[in-house]
Amino acid sequence: MKIVVHNDNPDRWCRALQAAFPRATVVTAEAPAEVRRGADYLAVWQPPEWLLAEQTQLKGIINLGAGVDALLDNPELPADVPVIKLRDAGMAAPMADYVLYGVLHFYRGFDGYDHQQQQARWAPQPLPDKADWPVGVLGLGAIGRHVAQALAEAGFPVLGWSRSAKHLDGVDCRHGEDGLDAVLAQAQSLVTLLPDTADTRGLINAERLAKLPPGASLINPGRGALIDESALLDALGDGDTPGHLRGALLDVFSTEPLPDDNPLWQHPRVWITPHTSAPTPLDGAIDQVIRYLHSFEAGKTPTAVNPDAGY
Ligand code: GLV
Repeated sequence: MKIVVHNDNPDRWCRALQAAFPRATVVTAEAPAEVRRGADYLAVWQPPEWLLAEQTQLKGIINLGAGVDALLDNPELPADVPVIKLRDAGMAAPMADYVLYGVLHFYRGFDGYDHQQQQARWAPQPLPDKADWPVGVLGLGAIGRHVAQALAEAGFPVLGWSRSAKHLDGVDCRHGEDGLDAVLAQAQSLVTLLPDTADTRGLINAERLAKLPPGASLINPGRGALIDESALLDALGDGDTPGHLRGALLDVFSTEPLPDDNPLWQHPRVWITPHTSAPTPLDGAIDQVIRYLHSFEAGKTPTAVNPDAGY
């Protein structure tokens, strides 16, 4: 068995995979071409086109992340090789922390207190009842469903939305276009955890932002492409004049790193983190990939990504 690894920590991955499969050839994409060629598996994050193009006998490509958008967009991705992605692999828990922080930021009024502090203004604001702060979670995959349930456990009413109907304890699950409208109409905080697909790109546009209650907040730790950034800026209003939305906590952007001149950087009601909401925990990810490789070698293809659906 031959495995080629490409990500930002390939040596650590090679050591772990070599220890799990002592008879395998496990190399990084830096290995000479004649060593890399003829791989059975690629374990990769955002691989260069040449790494996909040079392989001729792959049994599987393992995406070392949850989102497969970059891999599916790679023009050299072979159509007939199953793509397997990380599913949770330890990312759901830090993601739930990030989102809970974001919801509490707005629910507890830290956004307003931030600005009051800049003016040395002491003005306690009333604390809303959690029951009056429904949170909408768009995307109920392995990570989204964990986030939705963590928010429900924290006492917020949670409305979840997904493409197909789902049932989750403690979460009011909706689907379809009507379901999305119902979630948008109620969400005081909207959390976007959908994959980036042809169906979801630009989903949160001006029309849908306008369906949120006035003063709602947006938390996007999913993918930048889900949001129409200029519609978001319009909805946030200018300078000191708030618009329809109260604020946004954004971790992902249509261009990353976020360019220096992007107006989101300077906006007084936007909080930015650099695509760091749920870093992939190495041990969890390595364990999952080892399990995938054992399944493949036992003749059982792990659940593959549906390239038409995009996740
Ligand atoms: C990170 O963005 C991932 O898709 O795992």
